[in-house]
Amino acid sequence: RMLRRQMECRSDIHRLNAPLLAIYESLIPPKEEKTKQQQLLALLEKLVWKEWPQAKLFPYGSCVNDFGVSRSDIDICLALNEDINNKSEILLKLADILQSDNLQNVQALTRARVPIVKLMDPVTGISCDICINNVLAVVNTKLLRDYAQIDARLRQLAFIVKHWAKSRGVNETYRGTLSSYAYVLMCIHFLQQRRPAILPCLQGMEKTYNVIVDNIECAYFDQIEKLHNFGSSNKETVAQLVWGFFNYWAYGHDYANSVISVRTGSIISKQEKDWTRRIGNDRHLICIEDPFETCHDLGRVVDKFSIRVLREEFERAADIMQFDPNPCVKLFEPY
Ligand code: GTP
Ligand code: MG
Repeated sequence: RMLRRQMECRSDIHRLNAPLLAIYESLIPPKEEKTKQQQLLALLEKLVWKEWPQAKLFPYGSCVNDFGVSRSDIDICLALNEDINNKSEILLKLADILQSDNLQNVQALTRARVPIVKLMDPVTGISCDICINNVLAVVNTKLLRDYAQIDARLRQLAFIVKHWAKSRGVNETYRGTLSSYAYVLMCIHFLQQRRPAILPCLQGMEKTYNVIVDNIECAYFDQIEKLHNFGSSNKETVAQLVWGFFNYWAYGHDYANSVISVRTGSIISKQEKDWTRRIGNDRHLICIEDPFETCHDLGRVVDKFSIRVLREEFERAADIMQFDPNPCVKLFEPY
């Protein structure tokens, strides 16, 4: 492993740039999808307002964070002003309201980690999950979207990493691998760490955006129009970055001691966060700090079996990027 870490990137890496960009382009959702999403959102608002005239619907996750591929499901947060002591009751009522309209497969999942109502709209063909008062998710979605506006290479890298993770079956939190949200944070952190840096650390700058959600202060610099040249002195291409990303997670990252932190734009130690031992189900085998809920490790879903699967997949990807004559096929081969 030590030997591999020292290794130079393959000399023909530039040859991989065009095919990787072509894959990225093919994953971008067409414009009509946005229109359909807005159509569905308007329909849902109309239905929800009958019961809760003060309610607001906020889309979050990949449908608005700029990291959504074509035909993704949409995530919506129903923000109710009232204090809620029984989420299940609200979800069941919501399911009832939606059921009576033409929506299909309406289902209230009241026992999930994040309780939701699921549904499918037959008119637009879009599936969606609605949760209640999960405002932090709306705010971290804005953070991701703001990072995406700074340098185009983030979106390119993240699309390729997400596509790889879905193809290889390592984007399934219920099976102990990582969420899309975690992979995007890994990409942001990786680009913050390049020299020269490709992304800044927005939470370390002047705070132009500031909200308090669930007693957590969410504050950062969001005047991204002032940062559109930020990464321009770094000339790395997407092929070099994909190579570097997998090489880092295969052979560079110190799994025993390190936590990646987008909040600080650096690596911090497990010691410092007291993430050194297993507490309950939190094993901290791969540590990814949530940018706002800083006591939250997005690697908490990973167990002693799935950490091996994950690391073997990172190594496989790194080796393909280094040695394979045709990486763009092999990398995304279904598992
Ligand atoms: P795909 O649906 O796979 O395309 O990706 P996605 O961007 O929708 O990501 P995902 O389904 O993993 O998560 C959707 C949104 O939920 C994220 O953008 C976050 O806002 C939020 N989210 C997901 N997981 C967590 C978590 O563990 N903690 C917090 N705070 N928010 C989360
Ligand atoms: Mg999603």
